[in-house]
Amino acid sequence: MHLSPVLQFAHALINACLKSGDCALDGTAGNGHDTLCLARCVGKTGKVWAFDVQPQALANTATRLEEAGERSQVELVQTGHEKLADYVNRPISAAVFNFGWLPGGDKRCTTQAHTSIRALAAALALLKPGGLLLAVLYPGHEAGREEADAVEQWAAALPQNECSVLKYGFVNQINRPPYLLAVEKRAHH
Ligand SMILES: C[S@@+](CC[C@H](N)C(=O)[O-])C[C@H]1O[C@@H](n2cnc3c(N)ncnc32)[C@H](O)[C@@H]1O
Repeated sequence: MHLSPVLQFAHALINACLKSGDCALDGTAGNGHDTLCLARCVGKTGKVWAFDVQPQALANTATRLEEAGERSQVELVQTGHEKLADYVNRPISAAVFNFGWLPGGDKRCTTQAHTSIRALAAALALLKPGGLLLAVLYPGHEAGREEADAVEQWAAALPQNECSVLKYGFVNQINRPPYLLAVEKRAHH
């Protein structure tokens, strides 16, 4: 047994939460690792919306999905995730946001606190009771630190009778390592 790295832990949560036929969204498609994880979980009878502002990111994601034979259940949307409610027309069981910039891409095209919060709030509104919203945050660079602080403040203010919020990260690593916030929308009683 070992403590999973942050992204691996996020994928384990997605695998535990999603089942065949579910709907899900990826707010930051990037190179498509998270989109592929979602697509595998929901299968051909499910649906995944994946957003990114960069054409290169969506092209990389499309290639990854095609190579894995999981392209057909995914709608790739080239637009900012803050507009996701214009596209996602069904309740979702999971949403993933892996913030920051495209690995290997333009570091200036990084996610921003104000649009990230709008997108997270929109995704939470679409989440089914029992569903999971994941945010991977990168406080190691300056914009990422502001974003992480803002997102954490937003998450910490969610009423505890409506959501459970988990923070997962390694506290003894240098250079402010990435961490995960996982929001579970509680089922109504
Ligand atoms: C860390 S990467 C995502 C990594 C990806 N999930 C993967 O598995 O490879 C962050 C992505 O967010 C995208 N991005 C930046 N601002 C955005 C916005 N407002 N809406 C959607 N995507 C955005 C960037 O283009 C970049 O591809």
